[in-house]
Amino acid sequence: MAGLAVFDAYGTLFDVHSAVRRHAAALGDGADGVSQLWRARQLEYAWIASLSGRYRDFWTLTGEALDFALAAHGIDDPALRASLMDAYLQLDPYPEVPGVLARLREAGVRTAILSNGSPMMLERAVKSAALGDLLDAVLSVDEVGAYKPDPRVYALACERLGVAPEAVAFQSSNAWDAAGAAAYGFRVHWINRSGQPREYAAMGPVLPLTDLSTLPALLG
Ligand code: LAC
Repeated sequence: MAGLAVFDAYGTLFDVHSAVRRHAAALGDGADGVSQLWRARQLEYAWIASLSGRYRDFWTLTGEALDFALAAHGIDDPALRASLMDAYLQLDPYPEVPGVLARLREAGVRTAILSNGSPMMLERAVKSAALGDLLDAVLSVDEVGAYKPDPRVYALACERLGVAPEAVAFQSSNAWDAAGAAAYGFRVHWINRSGQPREYAAMGPVLPLTDLSTLPALLG
């Protein structure tokens, strides 16, 4: 079956915690806390930027979120900060990702990223993980000037890829993103890697999967 599989990037294709893991020794006991707080503030800053009508790109917000997470853990180390930001441009893809994208394309399914990430961040992450040849499009919210789950972001995928919402299979590990995509009308797979309880059920139907490995069979 030909079709279109659209993926969230951070947390879905790329492991956001792999940046801190590479520098865990320097961060010591605070490593896990820094990584969790960095991600939480990064997302919160994006929602607030969108809701207040004061969009700034995700790279800027990622830096501000890291500054908060480090300060909250009493860490003041500009060289470590620079290393962590650099690591964020070279995140590890989840192990099944290259094979899944390749199988989808062999089955005639087009593949794309739709992400909060800035164009520079996405380009670097895709290149570092060698996924460029496995993706038909890499779309950033930057051209909308608002963040997920603003419906205009999901509409961007339809506009740019020339499909109706119901033709899109959307994958995200972020429950709130999966919910926003379901509300928009995509067919949604929630990649629930860490066994979280269901939330946002009123937003629309999502099918939970433990990782992406079964996706080619579901879409093929
Ligand atoms: C993204 C964030 C939400 O890639 O993970 O859009």
